Amino acid sequence: MDTLLHPEPLLPLRAWRALRSRGVRYAWHKTLRRSLGRWPTWKRRLIYADPRAYWTLRGGRDYFREQEGQVGRTLRAEWIADRVAAYRPTSILEIGCGYGKLLQAIRVRTDAPLAGLDFSRSQLGAAREFLNGQDDVELFLGRGDQLPFADGSFDMVVTSAVILHNPPEIADKIRREVIRVARRFAAHNEEMNVSYNRYGYDTAAWYRSQGFRIAESGPIPMDPDPVLSQFCVVRVNG
Ligand SMILES: C[S@@+](CC[C@H](N)C(=O)[O-])C[C@H]1O[C@@H](n2cnc3c(N)ncnc32)[C@H](O)[C@@H]1O
Repeated sequence: MDTLLHPEPLLPLRAWRALRSRGVRYAWHKTLRRSLGRWPTWKRRLIYADPRAYWTLRGGRDYFREQEGQVGRTLRAEWIADRVAAYRPTSILEIGCGYGKLLQAIRVRTDAPLAGLDFSRSQLGAAREFLNGQDDVELFLGRGDQLPFADGSFDMVVTSAVILHNPPEIADKIRREVIRVARRFAAHNEEMNVSYNRYGYDTAAWYRSQGFRIAESGPIPMDPDPVLSQFCVVRVNG
């Protein structure tokens, strides 16, 4: 965690180091991300066609710094962790755990065994550093639409800003995998707006359409746009 928090060197030095340490593909991807702001359609086509590649190149230290620099992200993670802990889950899996920000916030609220899964090696690398010393948080490299776990392996399965990064057919598979591996609850923070790197889904409506009972659903208080923000908890069994 300490090494993640070192002050950043100046941009030209950062760019040179990035090119040397992470290669041309990473540097090119970052340049496109920063320069195509006014052309979201091109941005989606050129750098977001493959979400796993995107999160491998964007994830890790860059993403960590960006997120930790925004106090709103910490307040949101704490709010979600409070809601998750309120259901007293006996074990929790977070799909798309990133560098472990939400897992860390959940850890201080419950002793339940925790697991995180992500399809990005760079994000998981940052998670190993960020969650360093917390042996009771297991981390897995894997895809949310093909979970490497038996049916009913976790009491609660959580996603936060993950399903929205996947196209509709994959999003559907992820939700079905959530239902398969969750024993009692699914909890989701998935926003509903569409942009170059997100699809946006009404997750609560999807569960209702499948006949599940929603335990709670509504906007996250600290999100800037309550119309587009959604946190829901679903009873997947019983
Ligand atoms: C916006 S980040 C959110 C990270 C974390 N949930 C949080 O709230 O801090 C999205 C994460 O989901 C992961 N992700 C997106 N789609 C995924 C999928 N289909 N399978 C596994 N991980 C996925 C990405 O690699 C990335 O780490």
